[in-house]
Amino acid sequence: MFAHLPAAEPDKILRVMAEFAADPRDDKIDLGVGVYKAEDGTTPVLKAVHDSEARILERQTTKGYTALSGDPGFRNAVAELVLGDVPQERLATLATPGGTGAIRQAFELARKAQSDLTVWLSDPTWTNHEAILDAMGIRWRRYRYYDPATGRADVPAMLEDLGEAARDDLVLLHGCCHNPTGADLTAADWSALGDLLERRGAVPLVDLAYLGFADGIEADLAGLRQLSHRLPEFLLAFSGSKSFGLYRDRVGCVVALGAGQQAADAISGTLASLNRHSYAFPPDHGARIVATILGDPGLRASWTEELSSMRTRINTLRRSFAEALTEATGDPGWQVLAEQRGMFSLLGLGDDAVRQMREEHAVYVVGGGRINVAGLTPASIPAAARAIADVL
Ligand SMILES: Cc1ncc(COP(=O)(O)O)c(C=O)c1O
Repeated sequence: MFAHLPAAEPDKILRVMAEFAADPRDDKIDLGVGVYKAEDGTTPVLKAVHDSEARILERQTTKGYTALSGDPGFRNAVAELVLGDVPQERLATLATPGGTGAIRQAFELARKAQSDLTVWLSDPTWTNHEAILDAMGIRWRRYRYYDPATGRADVPAMLEDLGEAARDDLVLLHGCCHNPTGADLTAADWSALGDLLERRGAVPLVDLAYLGFADGIEADLAGLRQLSHRLPEFLLAFSGSKSFGLYRDRVGCVVALGAGQQAADAISGTLASLNRHSYAFPPDHGARIVATILGDPGLRASWTEELSSMRTRINTLRRSFAEALTEATGDPGWQVLAEQRGMFSLLGLGDDAVRQMREEHAVYVVGGGRINVAGLTPASIPAAARAIADVL
C-alpha cells in the first residue's frame, strides 16, 4: 500500500528549527522559531498557568469525557474574553486542539454551509492557512495586504481586492500581530473593512493567535470587535498557545456568531459533529487551565501581568533592533520594525541572503526573511543587525 506513497514536503519552519539545533556554533542566533522566547532563550510556563494547574490537580475528581464541543466554562470564558459583550442567543462555540484545529473546523463549518466556498487570504499569510485549504481542497484567493516598500499594510489595495469578494465568501483576517509581516490594521482600517464586508455579504474569519502581544488585551481586540459588533455573521479562531504559553497542551476555540438563535443552534450542532467526526472530544486539560485563569480574579491579574511583560519585551526589542539596523545599514526605513507588532517581521531577504546569514553568521531566519523578534536579546541584537547589513 505504501510503496508509492509520495514523500511529504517538510515544513519550512520545522526544517529551520532542526538545522539550528544541529549547528555547533556557540554564538548562533535563532530568529526562525515560531514561539515566544524569554531573555534566557526558554519558553517558560507562566506562573498563572502553573498555579491554575496546581488548583486543577488538587480539585479534579474525574477525567471522564467532557461535552463534544468541549468544556462550556472554557468556551464561554473565551467568548467573553474576545467579544466583550456576547450576544448569547447568536453565539456558538467549539473547543478544538489549538488554534490550528479551530481554523480547520471553521473552514469545515463554512464549507458545510457553502459548498462552493472561496476563502480569501492576505498576501502573505501564515503558510499553514494555504496548506490547510489545499489539503481540504477548498478554493482560495489572495488579497493584497503587505507593502514591502513601506513595511505597512496597503489598505487601499486590500479593499480593492476584497471588493471582488462574493456573498458568503470567507475572508481570513489576522486579529493582531499579523504573521509573518507584523503589519497591523488601524481602527479606521477595520472600520473600512467592516463597511466592505457588510456591503459584499462576505463573512470574516478572524485568526486570533497573538492576543495581548501587540498593545494590550483590550487594544488588540478593538479592531475585530468592530466586525463582531456590526456584522450579522462572524467567525473567530482563538489560539491559547502564545497568549497563555500553552503550546503543547493544544488550546483552541471557534467563536461563531450567527444572524439569530436558529442559525446559532445550527452552527452549534454542526460544530459539535465536526469534533465528533475528527477526534470526538477535544483536549481538555489546557482548556481547563485557561477557564480557571479567566474565572479567578487573582489568576487573571497574574496572567495579564505576565502577558504584559512578554509584550513589553517584544516591543522593546523591536525598538532596539530598529535602531541597530538603521545604524548598521544607514537606512532609516528600518524604523518601521518598531511600529510593527507581534513577534514576526519580514526582512525581504532572498534565498541566497538567508543561506548566507545561516552559513556565515549563524543567524537563522525562515525563507523570505521572516524573523521572530522574540529570538533576539539585547546582547545578540548588534550581531544580528551586522549580519543583515552584511548580506543585503
Ligand atoms: C497566525 C497563526 N494562526 C494560528 C496559529 C495556531 O497555533 P496553534 O495551533 O499552535 O494554537 C499560529 C501558530 O503559529 C499562527 O501563527
